[in-house]
Amino acid sequence: MATMESLIGLVNRIQRACTVLGDYGGDSALPTLWEALPSVVVVGGQSSGKSSVLESIVGRDFLPRGSGIVTRRPLVLQLQKTEQGLQEYAEFLHMPKKRVTDFSMVRKEIQDETDRVTGKSKQISPVPIHLSIFSPNVVNLTLIDLPGLTKVAIEGQPESIVQDIENMVRSYVEKPNCIILAITPANQDIATSDAIKIAREVDPTGERTFGVLTKLDLMDKGTNALEVLEGRSYRLQHPWVGIVNRSQADINKNVDMIAARQREREFFATSPDYGHLSSKMGSEYLAKLLSKHLESVIKARIPGIASLINRSIDELEAELDHLGRPVAIDAGAQLYTILELCRAFDQIFKEHLDGGRPGGDR
Ligand code: GDP
Ligand code: NA
Ligand code: MG
Repeated sequence: MATMESLIGLVNRIQRACTVLGDYGGDSALPTLWEALPSVVVVGGQSSGKSSVLESIVGRDFLPRGSGIVTRRPLVLQLQKTEQGLQEYAEFLHMPKKRVTDFSMVRKEIQDETDRVTGKSKQISPVPIHLSIFSPNVVNLTLIDLPGLTKVAIEGQPESIVQDIENMVRSYVEKPNCIILAITPANQDIATSDAIKIAREVDPTGERTFGVLTKLDLMDKGTNALEVLEGRSYRLQHPWVGIVNRSQADINKNVDMIAARQREREFFATSPDYGHLSSKMGSEYLAKLLSKHLESVIKARIPGIASLINRSIDELEAELDHLGRPVAIDAGAQLYTILELCRAFDQIFKEHLDGGRPGGDR
């Protein structure tokens, strides 16, 4: 099991190193390698609770949230588990080597960096913001937050924005390595859910779609979402998970994550409608479900990833030989880092194969 954990950790670090390298990977196996690694994409209508769900999974407050179009650029968020006792910090790709330990500054920088590209308008941009969070309390995972699907342009937005957002979302969710978190608010008709509509198109069998029902606390009195949560109204391969995020009033009052999770647990535990499902509801359960799923996906892909990595090692060695006089010193150093990570992966993987003998899987 330790082997599995270190392999997943290495996959995550290679993925991050490839991101830092950007287009420099060129025609090598590196871009293919990136695409082979799973990531989780949050999809849904505007203000359905996407950013809130993402924050809950991470267990930290750091994303801009609110009514209207708040998320206006994709945010590629790489979580990297570090050793117990180390301080949590965040790092933006556009501010390399700067460790941000105050998470309210992370939120501010996401807003500022969004405005830098889109202006302070309600425009959107497909250029992603890359953010890594290093913490002992996260699971190794790449999460992507996206602008919300919408049906009409608002004041100050071009008419094309509806289609632009849909195209942007589609470009992420159609990749087979993408795990779709389809966010649907419980206080709207599920038949009109944008998230489910797009998920069904790109993943008809539902094998990589997780249905998430937010805003259960906002349903009309006397109604409940059992038809959905118990899989009767829209069946997915994975079970639906119900969520209660912080309301706008909670956000304004600075209700913290721990208090919010406690309240969410109480909501389900004491609910006459959902009490019997309470162990399979809520953000913490969703985070566990996702990390278990990711582990099995990566496990199944490890042989494929291993051969891509093996190819990458050869290519990287050749590339570094040629590089003699690097155009960008950083690119050379980065390629070297990736090479080292790939070698480490390769070695652990081979030991793992040899581990076919009794007691070998350690
Ligand atoms: P996004 O636009 O999909 O990213 O949605 P946000 O996460 O920014 O949330 C939009 C608004 O809905 C915010 O004011 C949140 O406080 C509120 N909200 C999100 N989820 C819930 C929920 O489960 N219950 C309640 N009461 N409010 C929620
Ligand atoms: Na919003
Ligand atoms: Mg958002």
